[in-house]
Amino acid sequence: MKDSGLRGRGGAGFPTGLKWGFIPQGDGKPHYLVVNADEGEPGTCKDLPLMTHDPHSLVEGVIIASYAIRANRAYIYIRGEAVHAARRLRNAVNEAYAKGYLGRDILGSGFDLDLVVHSGAGAYICGEETALLDSLEGFRGQPRLRPPFPATHGLYASPTVVNNVGTIASVPYIVLGGADWWKSMGTEKSAGPMIYSLSGRIANPGQYECGLGITLRELIELAGGMQPGHNLKFWTPGGSSTPLLTAEHLDVPLDFEGVAAAGSILGTTATQIFSDQDCPVYATYRWLEFYHHESCGKCTPCREGNYWMVRVYRRILAGQGTQDDLDTLLDTCDNILGRSFCGLGDGATSPVTSSLKYFKQDYLDYIEGRTAPKLSDKQLVGAH
Ligand SMILES: Cc1cc2nc3c(=O)[nH]c(=O)nc-3n(C[C@H](O)[C@H](O)[C@H](O)COP(=O)(O)O)c2cc1C
Ligand code: SF4
Repeated sequence: MKDSGLRGRGGAGFPTGLKWGFIPQGDGKPHYLVVNADEGEPGTCKDLPLMTHDPHSLVEGVIIASYAIRANRAYIYIRGEAVHAARRLRNAVNEAYAKGYLGRDILGSGFDLDLVVHSGAGAYICGEETALLDSLEGFRGQPRLRPPFPATHGLYASPTVVNNVGTIASVPYIVLGGADWWKSMGTEKSAGPMIYSLSGRIANPGQYECGLGITLRELIELAGGMQPGHNLKFWTPGGSSTPLLTAEHLDVPLDFEGVAAAGSILGTTATQIFSDQDCPVYATYRWLEFYHHESCGKCTPCREGNYWMVRVYRRILAGQGTQDDLDTLLDTCDNILGRSFCGLGDGATSPVTSSLKYFKQDYLDYIEGRTAPKLSDKQLVGAH
């Protein structure tokens, strides 16, 4: 796995082989593999089709990864709403048990492995790996303080690897095709293929599996172009938690390094595409409503900051904003970014700061009355 250069597909791009290597060996403790199938990042839809259309790859990946880290119990933590995918996964797991690929003494190897598919209750925060572990243990899903890290104190305080669905589903293909084959796709530091989720103002939205490093221009071409009458205005390279990019960034290589150099984050490769007929202020407001709703409330910057930013956006969108509101937004982001307990808080600031960076004029148009209010006074209730 180390030779292949596989990097986690859950958003952060951490090298998978290195992560597995952190699991202590011969420590006499149970080890666990936990597959993160929570997939809650807005715009992201790459794990769901993998699980509905090819659940066996994931099951096979779980078996290989568990063997590598000497885990005898593995869990797939799947988002509560994904009932159909969970049903298919459970069928695939039952088939694997029936064939002797799971259970006691797998194919006479002496290796035992049990695999449990666990449905969550539909909370975005339970995709954060330590909140996921708390939820799996039966507690309320809130992030844990780190260190200690899951590699030594994960599920039930035992060594645990948490990996994304796309990461684990890649494993059987890497074992089969070899590290060099895997590295023949993608770029030097971001090896292999990736599923890009394209949504929004394009002709054929959907999942497109391409080598890492493809550009948005090429992806839009693959998807049949923009919808007639729409010109690209802004887009997310990897879900709403990654800073917005614009039409200037059509030729940025969509790999971990290329997107970082352009001032954003590759994230979950969820490219949400907006046109000149969409409003970046309103889109950001809708995302903030999401973060405010999903904030677990454990830390003050995220809990309070998102609550208040939603109110400032409502005021601006109702035509009652002031120039000071823009400073308040930036100041609030400054107090959330890097001061929150987990990545949800940091992610919430991305659309705010990036939309203000590229589209300040759109904000001013509401404030100075050139754009008609999008929200009514009624929707302002509780906003002050
Ligand atoms: C708020 C939040 C939500 C997250 N949601 C997911 C998710 O739904 N799926 C996922 O794989 N990783 C998610 N992550 C990242 C995980 O914490 C973790 O980094 C990932 O599961 C590691 O897997 P990988 O190394 O295979 O990428 C989330 C992180 C944060 C901060
Ligand atoms: S940043 Fe938000 S989601 Fe994360 S721990 Fe703090 S309140 Fe909870």
